[in-house]
Amino acid sequence: MLFGNIDRNEKGELLFAGHSVTELAAQYGTPLYLMDEQRIRDNCRIYTQAFRENFPEGSMPLYASKACCFVQLCRIAEEEGMGLDVVSAGELFTAMKAGFPAERIHFHGNVKKDEEIDYAISCGVGTFVVDNPDELEALQKRAEAAGVVQNILLRITPGIDPHTYVAVNTGTVDSKFGSAIETGQAEEIIRRAEALPNVHVTGLHCHVGSMVFDEDVFERTVAVMVSFLAEMERSLGRKLEFLNLGGGYGVRYIKDGKKVNIAEKISDVAQALKACCAEEGIEVPKIQMEPGRSIVADAGMTVYTVGSVKRLDGFKNFAAVDGGMTDNPRYVLYGSEYTVLHVTKNGVKARFDLVGRCCESGDIIQPKVMLPADTCRGDLIAVCVTGAYNYSMASNYNRVGRPPVVMLTKDGSYVAVKRESLFDLSRLDQ
Ligand code: LLP
Repeated sequence: MLFGNIDRNEKGELLFAGHSVTELAAQYGTPLYLMDEQRIRDNCRIYTQAFRENFPEGSMPLYASKACCFVQLCRIAEEEGMGLDVVSAGELFTAMKAGFPAERIHFHGNVKKDEEIDYAISCGVGTFVVDNPDELEALQKRAEAAGVVQNILLRITPGIDPHTYVAVNTGTVDSKFGSAIETGQAEEIIRRAEALPNVHVTGLHCHVGSMVFDEDVFERTVAVMVSFLAEMERSLGRKLEFLNLGGGYGVRYIKDGKKVNIAEKISDVAQALKACCAEEGIEVPKIQMEPGRSIVADAGMTVYTVGSVKRLDGFKNFAAVDGGMTDNPRYVLYGSEYTVLHVTKNGVKARFDLVGRCCESGDIIQPKVMLPADTCRGDLIAVCVTGAYNYSMASNYNRVGRPPVVMLTKDGSYVAVKRESLFDLSRLDQ
């Protein structure tokens, strides 16, 4: 079984989370995002259990909703005991619509508009993760106007290179995010925050990058952050309750790709944390992490219908499908690898570039994939492990509507997000 939830039946047809992909495509149409609800829950449980076993009481993993955000997913994260990381009024609104408890929400982002700050305060968001001095001053004003003292974490840049791709590397000193320890700006923002009456610093936050596989990235991050936290506790003369280590564990997109054993990694992080705190002579802080990709990626699959096949003998073959960079821009943006499967045929293979329907040559979902040589218009193609940063980064380029998200459960399937209709696409036009 591929990725633990993809299989073929005796006819060779693809099954996802035990369901016939052909039947789902017939019922819901294509392109189609499928999500394996149990896998999302299992992924959440890996974190909640590892947190219970390894970190002090009051520690909490938060689902980074930027990876994929819709009401039902927020509900699942809530039911699984996760907190929620939101980065915009849009994600926050979705969470509130889901009835997510506001005190378990962290409001992130390097640009928070005044109206977003006001909205988040009015929702009673538990924690703002303050990125920079401009935001700190704005938050102080808005919190004062609302008559509240807002709990905040300060986002610190620890100067760690996680060796992932540049677009998602955020821990180095020259990152656009956070205040760097190295430049003294981290200490400055903490001192400033401490002097403000309407914000209360409950701890520190960092996030060094995404798709992290390097063995000791989190351990190195812990070492830098604990030493800085200890220094700040000594100079402020009080305890900082929380240390948030961000998200970032990588996932396996292809059969032979690397895989992170998250439960093991968290236990390693806990060991490093305890050792560093003992060395600094401070109490172990409550730990937070913000996994996104590792919660939803392998719960997702995208199903397309082939619209045309073009064979250029001596050059290459194209299989063009009814979606593309509009529902999955990740190869275009990052050169990301994906596993591509024919849904019904398993025969002699030929090499194809799997391309989309958008009006540009760069619209490639995955180059050089092996598909049955007789792949033709009307065939169904599945792209695996598309649960993270596909729906959330989808666009309406060429006025193509976004696919629906259909959840698969043990007993059946249900629409969690509807297909965008032609009416939806023009609803804002005046
Ligand atoms: N916390 C913060 C502050 C973040 O910026 C991110 C991701 C996360 C948590 C979640 O990280 P994860 O566990 O998902 O790696 N669009 C890119 C990924 C961008 C990640 C941005 N920040 C992609 O498709 O690969």
